[in-house]
Amino acid sequence: MHPKVFRDELVRAAEWVADYLVRLPELPVTRPVPDAHRRVLAAGSLPDDGQDLGGLLDFVHESVAPYPTGNGHPAFFAWINSPPSPPGVIAELLACAINATCGMGEHALMDLERGVVRDLAALAGLPTTTGGVLTSGGSMANLLCLATARQWFLQQHGATDGPAYDQAHARLVAYHSDQAHMSVAKATAVIGLPPWRLRAVPTTRDRRMDVSALRAAVDRDRASGLLPFCVVSNLGTTASGAIDTPAPITDLCRRYGMWHHADGAWGGLGAALPELASAYAGVADLDSLTVDPHKTLSVPVGCGAALVTDPEQLRAAFAFRASYLDGDQEWPWLSDYTIELTRPGTRALTLWATLRHLGRSGVTTLLSHYQDLARHLRERIQDHPRLELCTSGPLPVVCFRLRTTAQDSTPSAFHAAVAARLQQRGHAYLATVEHHGETILRACICNYRTTTADLDTLLHEVLTTAQLLNGTHAR
Ligand SMILES: Cc1ncc(COP(=O)(O)O)c(C=O)c1O
Repeated sequence: MHPKVFRDELVRAAEWVADYLVRLPELPVTRPVPDAHRRVLAAGSLPDDGQDLGGLLDFVHESVAPYPTGNGHPAFFAWINSPPSPPGVIAELLACAINATCGMGEHALMDLERGVVRDLAALAGLPTTTGGVLTSGGSMANLLCLATARQWFLQQHGATDGPAYDQAHARLVAYHSDQAHMSVAKATAVIGLPPWRLRAVPTTRDRRMDVSALRAAVDRDRASGLLPFCVVSNLGTTASGAIDTPAPITDLCRRYGMWHHADGAWGGLGAALPELASAYAGVADLDSLTVDPHKTLSVPVGCGAALVTDPEQLRAAFAFRASYLDGDQEWPWLSDYTIELTRPGTRALTLWATLRHLGRSGVTTLLSHYQDLARHLRERIQDHPRLELCTSGPLPVVCFRLRTTAQDSTPSAFHAAVAARLQQRGHAYLATVEHHGETILRACICNYRTTTADLDTLLHEVLTTAQLLNGTHAR
């Protein structure tokens, strides 16, 4: 490609990006992909001859951008899906041009990754010994940490290979709460535990792990000859934003020689907020923590992180040698700490740019802003006669239901119908979640562009949609 053509296309693309991000709030939150269009996109259609690059931007403009999930829009409240930070967008482009492989050899972006991992650990309240790696997201970070926990435990028991490994491995048991994210179950399956050896510990009314039930489960398993090796707690449950305070769970883990991993994909940085500090008591004593900067910090997807307070344990699980890869002992390659060998430098640079732009105080201001918005939404719900607030928080997830006798459908079916119709209308977007066996409405706040007006739009949409479906009336 001629350098001039490249430059011109790059400038056009940059202008398109700037316009797109400015205009996003005026566009429908989402637009479903028409079936015919979806079939065309999914068919695969590589032409024999290469085409003009100019077609790329037109293709994105006409065929991709009009059909977003919605997570760039300030009135999008489903799942935990934030918009990209502007510094992150720029950094992604720059890192792509540099195209570092970030797993082997030397590269300044690998050093930068070491630095941002330390920054994340400091924000999370972990000790200065902490190391780790950036990952594609929270699921991968949970997997790395569980594999590390398993390796550490087997090492402690002199069972890293041979028949001792087979015998010990067949008895390993892990624990998570009945509110854990499904990526924890996926990770334990990937490291070779069958479902029955992952215990779902019951939670209290406020959705936190019941530590006495955990203790009882561990005691039962030990008594029957099993090997409890790891507890996964939640620093922010996906469904309702509940926090398992680390200290009592770590105490139990220390007593029984188990690893304590906390899944903080949603709320791993919340300890930085004074109003939440007591909920995070003991966070510094965790063995490992997942954080997910592509959630609350709006780093462009995918950027998660596996943080391990003794990073040598992570290395013990993932450093494998080969004659064609001659690693550095003083500055171990980052591939020694993860499954990936060739790794993108985009994660480090987008995270660095976002953190630099915010600064430490900007991170706390952002997280406090989400807390304030959630408070506003909760108050609006509590004040409204047709709405009922359900257990959620302290993180900024708001679960609620319509007060309805829903003559022609169950409350669950009615809430599902409201969410589906509301999503189609395109003014706001929220998802549903199961709560005490009932499907209810769930709004998650993690968009720095969201204002109280967007929350008011959301409630207006919920009520209007309910009316349209003609199923609500005050009790
Ligand atoms: C608590 C929790 N853990 C893990 C994950 C998975 O993270 P990711 O989607 O980045 O893989 C999520 C995603 O929402 C989550 O809420």
